[in-house]
Amino acid sequence: MPLFDTYNREIRDLRISLTDRCNFRCFYCLPNGEPPLARKETILTFEEIEYLSEIFVSLGIEKIRLTGGEPLLRKDLPALVSQLANLKPALKDLALTTNGFDFPRQAAELKVAGLDRVTISLDSLKRENFLDITGIDALDKVFAAIESARSIGFDPIKINAVIVRGRNDDEVVDFARFARENDVSFRFIEFMPLDSGHEWNREMVVGGREIHDAINEVFPLKLKDNSRGSETAWRYEFADGSPGEIGIIAPVTEMFCGACSRIRLTADGHIRTCLFSTTEYNLRDHLRSGATRSQVVEFIADAVLKKEPRHYINDSKFVQPSRTMSFIGG
Ligand code: 5AD
Ligand code: SF4
Repeated sequence: MPLFDTYNREIRDLRISLTDRCNFRCFYCLPNGEPPLARKETILTFEEIEYLSEIFVSLGIEKIRLTGGEPLLRKDLPALVSQLANLKPALKDLALTTNGFDFPRQAAELKVAGLDRVTISLDSLKRENFLDITGIDALDKVFAAIESARSIGFDPIKINAVIVRGRNDDEVVDFARFARENDVSFRFIEFMPLDSGHEWNREMVVGGREIHDAINEVFPLKLKDNSRGSETAWRYEFADGSPGEIGIIAPVTEMFCGACSRIRLTADGHIRTCLFSTTEYNLRDHLRSGATRSQVVEFIADAVLKKEPRHYINDSKFVQPSRTMSFIGG
């Protein structure tokens, strides 16, 4: 019984934010630190996440990405991963997005537990600039995380960089070189208005086209697949056959909402049908008030039916959602 929304989009991809806390202070996300919210009892327990995930998978979810905040701050994450891995093979892909800081310590256990893929954030290759962007002097830690992902056999390794005018747009070609030299999939993401500091403005957005052209001039690119389906990224290989991959994610300048297959579960158990939703559906309270399994199914299906047709970033009346990426789940 797959989930469809009213625009006939099939929902196959669930992102679960495990915590809104983070040990980084990326200016595009959580520059002023965590909101005071997260009392422990508002956050979903692992048991609740497992229970809900099983239901989501029974409704046709094939991909689960664990995100945050920084998911590795949740104690004993491998235990959750191994429970979720029991949902395979109906669950086809279990992935994690992390800032990498604590990844080397947990990587082997996560792999054994059944994690399929990892995405690590890396917004600068220069120590000073990395500190400036993330608020923490941890570039070496992130390099170590990438190395441990490789040595433990995660494949592919994805790297995320949010490209922002005047902050790291001068590093785009260096990032592409890094992708070639380290055989990783480097994903360039347009800056979206989801930062808690409300600094976002249009001038700070470096469009996907500009990113592509800057790389293509130095390292000619070849589009891998021009029908990207519900994928967010245009994926390119290097025309000279070098290893590595470039992904360009352009939600602002090239909206891809029409093919969206995603919903999100916030750390405190609310369904968000879009990054830019202004409404959320409090699944946690529904569950905790004793809803039966079929009532939970109905609640999820109803929420999906209210999925927004698209985002309105480019409309003059756009309002930034009050929840930031750390809460919503990147
Ligand atoms: N715009 C675009 N991407 C963002 N992320 C976080 N905040 C933003 C934003 N404002 C992405 C980063 C990070 C992932 C968790 O979410 O790429 O790697
Ligand atoms: Fe933390 Fe990720 Fe947000 Fe950076 S983007 S502050 S690493 S949750």
